[in-house]
Amino acid sequence: MATAATRAMKTVLLLLSVLIMFGLSHAVISEEENLEMERQLKIINKPPIKSFKTDYGDILDCIDIYKQHAFDHPLLKDHKVQTRPKHVPKSTMESESPRLLPDNIKCPPGSVLIRRTTKEDLIMANKMKTLGLNHATNPGVAPDANTAAVRYTKHNFGARTTMNVWGPTTLPPQASFANLWLSSGPSEKLNVIQAGWAVFPLFFHSHTTRLLTYWTGDGYNTTGCFNYNCPGFVQINRKISLGLVLDQLSVYNGTQRDIQISLIKNANWWLQLGNQFIGYWPQRLFSYMSDHADNAVWGGLVISPPNELSPAMGSGHFPKDGLQNKSAYFKNTQIWDGTNLTYPSRDQLVLSVSRPDCYEAQFAPGVAPTTVDLFYGGPGQCHI
Ligand SMILES: *[C@@H]1O[C@H](CO)[C@@H](O)[C@H](O)[C@H]1NC(C)=O
Ligand SMILES: *[C@@H]1O[C@H](CO)[C@@H](O)[C@H](O)[C@H]1NC(C)=O
Ligand SMILES: *[C@@H]1O[C@H](CO)[C@@H](O)[C@H](O)[C@H]1NC(C)=O
Ligand SMILES: *[C@@H]1O[C@H](CO)[C@@H](O)[C@H](O)[C@H]1NC(C)=O
Repeated sequence: MATAATRAMKTVLLLLSVLIMFGLSHAVISEEENLEMERQLKIINKPPIKSFKTDYGDILDCIDIYKQHAFDHPLLKDHKVQTRPKHVPKSTMESESPRLLPDNIKCPPGSVLIRRTTKEDLIMANKMKTLGLNHATNPGVAPDANTAAVRYTKHNFGARTTMNVWGPTTLPPQASFANLWLSSGPSEKLNVIQAGWAVFPLFFHSHTTRLLTYWTGDGYNTTGCFNYNCPGFVQINRKISLGLVLDQLSVYNGTQRDIQISLIKNANWWLQLGNQFIGYWPQRLFSYMSDHADNAVWGGLVISPPNELSPAMGSGHFPKDGLQNKSAYFKNTQIWDGTNLTYPSRDQLVLSVSRPDCYEAQFAPGVAPTTVDLFYGGPGQCHI
């Protein structure tokens, strides 16, 4: 409900967050650190063929597909770029992908669209490491996180899901995610790929809902990162970059806006938004996930520093307050067995909610027995 009071509240929160971020990004940086960051940025941001600026202030670069930062990874030196997976579930090609940018923003053939990393991004990334926040983005290994999610613990080659998109109120350094996670391995060496949307003001310098991914090959310790912040993810798309704003948000008790995310193993781990392939994580980045994944998890996750209040998740409302047009959801989630996409049955799924007083998760009552829809979310505002 967009009453005047809640709008005013949102404005105050936004102002506060800008002030806090200003404080963080202007933390004292020595000359040496500054030079080091500029050196890193030169490595991350390859010379663009063409650039665009979005209404949100992001710079989008068109980078030669063969010269992208991914190939600075020592294991990807002689990697042969794949422009399409050989075999994917047909039904993932049927869903439209959302229009995220004006039609004139498109890279020329042979180049790919990549959101440029800024100095502020690097400062934030370091800050997040200091706060331990990058470790906190997995439901399995997150001491500082709250989750409302469902887990499927069987051998799989990926999954696809349809989720509605929201902009839950989130103050830096809080973050609020809606993700599909795939993982394998023991926790200290956990291999993970996660993708979905997030409101993550510390990372994106604004209260926007963005396309966000993360990967790690060693339990969030030394390998992996968000989006393009480290070499790994190979971008193949000319029109959709990770980190773009999803500005078509669902309205409480109104129109719902969906995105469809697929993570599908076909030699490499492919990421699809609707029917568009964005890119892939090469098999070689992983040990335990080089062949398949052992877990698939979908749901909401929020992070906030210890002893501080946690942010809203999903629509900011509990499923019990109303499902239809009111609650955040994951619908039609299917598991890819390498040949077919199949609906998991309810007895293969485990619901887990870390703080039922702040967040909830439940299955939809009375839907067709072949599909298991998850509703999740809550207002938060609790201590972890
Ligand atoms: C993280 O990596 C460092 C450096 O490789 C290693 O010394 C440390 O034991 C690792 N930590 C965990 C929890 O595995
Ligand atoms: C939800 O919308 C319906 C009409 O679409 C309206 O009758 C109802 O009062 C609304 N409920 C809330 C809680 O806003
Ligand atoms: C949900 O929203 C849609 C579109 O606004 C509307 O047609 C439908 O009646 C709503 N359903 C409920 C139960 O409010
Ligand atoms: C995949 O689906 C087809 C057609 O529905 C079926 O014949 C086949 O047995 C399935 N394969 C597996 C591995 O389940």
